[in-house]
Amino acid sequence: MSTANKHDSGAPAARVVPVDLGDRSYEVCIGRGVFAFAPGIARKKLGDKCRGAFVVVDSGLPETAAQRAVAALRAAGLNATSIALIPTEHDKSLQSLGHIVTEMTRRKLERSDVVIALGGGIVGDLAGFAASVYRRGIAVIQCPTTLLSMVDASVGGKTGVNIDLAGDGADLKKNMVGAFHQPIGVLADLDTLATLDDRQFAAGLAECIKHAMISADFGDANLLGWTEANISGLSKSNAPLLAELIQRNVAVKARVVSGDEREEKEGGRALLNLGHTFAHAIEALPGARAVLNNGTELPGDVHHGEAVALGLRAAARTAVSLGLVDTAYADRVGALVDAAQLPNKVRGLPTAEKLIERMSHDKKHIGGNIRLVLPCGHGTARIVENPDVNAVRGTIEAIRA
Ligand code: GLY
Repeated sequence: MSTANKHDSGAPAARVVPVDLGDRSYEVCIGRGVFAFAPGIARKKLGDKCRGAFVVVDSGLPETAAQRAVAALRAAGLNATSIALIPTEHDKSLQSLGHIVTEMTRRKLERSDVVIALGGGIVGDLAGFAASVYRRGIAVIQCPTTLLSMVDASVGGKTGVNIDLAGDGADLKKNMVGAFHQPIGVLADLDTLATLDDRQFAAGLAECIKHAMISADFGDANLLGWTEANISGLSKSNAPLLAELIQRNVAVKARVVSGDEREEKEGGRALLNLGHTFAHAIEALPGARAVLNNGTELPGDVHHGEAVALGLRAAARTAVSLGLVDTAYADRVGALVDAAQLPNKVRGLPTAEKLIERMSHDKKHIGGNIRLVLPCGHGTARIVENPDVNAVRGTIEAIRA
């Protein structure tokens, strides 16, 4: 990790976190205005053959975001164009993938050109997947614009789309089709967070709490304590603290990915699924509503980060029932989730049996059994195969509003 500015004079100062993956290594640059580094990264990694840039932009961003990105790339001599994508789980589909690669073909993108993914996790996953298959793979620069995608989704090369089995979203299989396709760079431009609403900001904090719960095995034994000490001061307007949060979280994620890029090793990338088996079962539930500690029901669908927060709480409680951690540790997790303005309960859950069935349908399970990542205390976690179903049932009742 460093804070050195290794780029042209006049470019903004950035915190830089390396992701070490041999000849596919890259850097995550964090700071205000770091989008300006995009042309330099493309030229450095792809050489002068790189003439075209295709910006896939989140339609939720202000129109000026795409205009500015295209103008910056053109000013650096790249032939840049853009398309906008609607960032919903429904639109994270094979149809959208077809649309993107058709546009790339129409705009004559060459193998040596670059895709720029400018948006949240959905845009990053879709644009990254399109880059991985277009002409059998072209380069992508991930430019995350949400806290959640800055600390998690943009780093590590996971890309993909959902498969909607029922056709109406009731049986959505998340990330069923995809590829590992590492970006050539990640630019976490703090200026893009300005338009993020408070609910989306809090959703990003859920992945930060997750990282803090596994960080001791990945080079940052103090991240849990640091997060507890700073959670109340974290906001979009506190750029220095935010930059430190993102830098430390990206560093944890980078170490996990460097050690187990394709999620194949014991104690490796699978630990990032902490809270996610519960989360995936909850977030796709039609009619489910997240409820804050003060009783406020959040309108609309449960966001991914909110479902992760519920999943972290549930995982901590399950770990208490199984004797992996004491109640005080689960309470620490609950207090962090509350302090981040994330939900502690969910309304509209089906029976515990039905939810457990949904959890065992999670694509990350093996051989039809439930597989949970559970905390073991002191910022560590491990995988537990087939936990006692009564413990899981009790946990589900505890998060039911
Ligand atoms: N977001 C989980 C992973 O990258 O493996």
